[in-house]
Amino acid sequence: MANSKKAKIIINADVKKGKINKNIYGQFSEHLGRCIYEGLWVGKDSPIANTNGIRNDVVHALKDLKVPVLRWPGGCFADEYHWKDGIGDPEGRPKMINTHWGGVVENNHFGTHEFFELCEQLETEPYICGNVGSGSVQEMSEWVEYMTFDGVSPMAELRAKNGHEKPWKLKYFGVGNENWGCGGNMRPEYYSDLYRRYSTYVRNYKGNNLFKIAGGANTSDYNWTEVLMRESERFMDGLSLHYYTMPLSWGDKGSATVFDELLWFKTMERILYMEELVVKHGTIMDKYDPDKRVGLIVDEWGTWFNAEPGTNPGFLYQQNTLRDALVAGVGLNIFNNHCDRVQMANIAQMINVLQAMILTEGDKIVLTPTYHIFKMYNVHQDAQLVSTSLECEDYVNGDKTVPQLNVSASIDDKDILHISLCNLDPNETVEVTSDLRGVIYKKVSGTILAADKMNAYNSFNAPNSVVPAEFKDVTIQDNKLSIFMPPMSVIVLNVE
Ligand code: AHR
Repeated sequence: MANSKKAKIIINADVKKGKINKNIYGQFSEHLGRCIYEGLWVGKDSPIANTNGIRNDVVHALKDLKVPVLRWPGGCFADEYHWKDGIGDPEGRPKMINTHWGGVVENNHFGTHEFFELCEQLETEPYICGNVGSGSVQEMSEWVEYMTFDGVSPMAELRAKNGHEKPWKLKYFGVGNENWGCGGNMRPEYYSDLYRRYSTYVRNYKGNNLFKIAGGANTSDYNWTEVLMRESERFMDGLSLHYYTMPLSWGDKGSATVFDELLWFKTMERILYMEELVVKHGTIMDKYDPDKRVGLIVDEWGTWFNAEPGTNPGFLYQQNTLRDALVAGVGLNIFNNHCDRVQMANIAQMINVLQAMILTEGDKIVLTPTYHIFKMYNVHQDAQLVSTSLECEDYVNGDKTVPQLNVSASIDDKDILHISLCNLDPNETVEVTSDLRGVIYKKVSGTILAADKMNAYNSFNAPNSVVPAEFKDVTIQDNKLSIFMPPMSVIVLNVE
């Protein structure tokens, strides 16, 4: 204990700062590698236990996360996807090449109907991303008609012919993906005009109101946000932002499991940068939308490392360590703390791709450290953010520093206060005193995710190396919490 760092957090439980939109805990599943095929979809005839082709083990595990919203079919794949290829008799569906992701054959067995089935099984809200880059206005417009129109029309008839008489409910619709890059290499002025045109024909049919999301910026491309907001703000409900956490560069992103402390530190720096991005893009949005009507939709985020050796590099399959858990914890804290503007975030991706919740190998699955963070943090979904003020020492690496701790807190509808706290320092423990103000609290309990090694991970042979445990090093007296946190750990406290 002698070397422990000290920190203080004041929590004003009576200062509510707005609802944490549960959609911040959203996910993303693309036709990429083994996310859809093998990860989610095995087909009705598979020996792997499934319901209507969707694997039961995966659905069962994901339901514990309370996934609020799921984005599909891409990513870069979305701007090459022609939805009519994915309806009707599966055996008659055309095959295509998935040019972005490994050049493999896409048989289109998982299409619109299967996606809605998945969302129903997960009890999650669908978020569909349409094709601007290589599609047409008509194609996008007809897809929305196919999914949501209740009446007599060519697309409603086609849907009924394919076995779904009634329309589905669809709220979230994205008009293209990364249109500054894989979605067409456009300039913001050009995309902005296209957004206005496409979104005009993305109709709100009776009983179905769409929340239209414009394709937003890459990382710190503030000009993109400026142009989109200036030219098209009134036509959108959300504007996206994509930012991936990688400790090195796009060329060599570093290994997911073999890294030293410098790379751990850089990873922490890079996820903390998310806060600057949210603030700066948010400030531009404030200029055109001071009432914060338009949501910042961080619909791709998470770690991106080199693909696991021996796997198809185009499949973006990576392991997931305690480092990923810290990234998830810090990222979610940042979104919680900026819930006045961040209305949704979708970690990339749900299964077998990038910072996944679950990895699969044949009929086996393993839950990653990131999965456990999403489960621990789901208490914040739709809770009220409360004001926190943190004073902590730095985590120092060479001549660089980051704050040792990262926090957010909320009060749920049962008046339970939840505090999520990350210790980014892989070497130092920390003694935290937390003053709880404005409400009298008597009881505290908690959960911790930690490990002895920075690169600890769950494998198919050792699936329980990084799993949550009851957190006992916390006491409450006179409305003050005394917390003793180990290095590189994430805790979530419940205070009553
Ligand atoms: O998530 C992987 C890819 O990253 C997505 O397809 C694309 O939108 C982004 O560049």
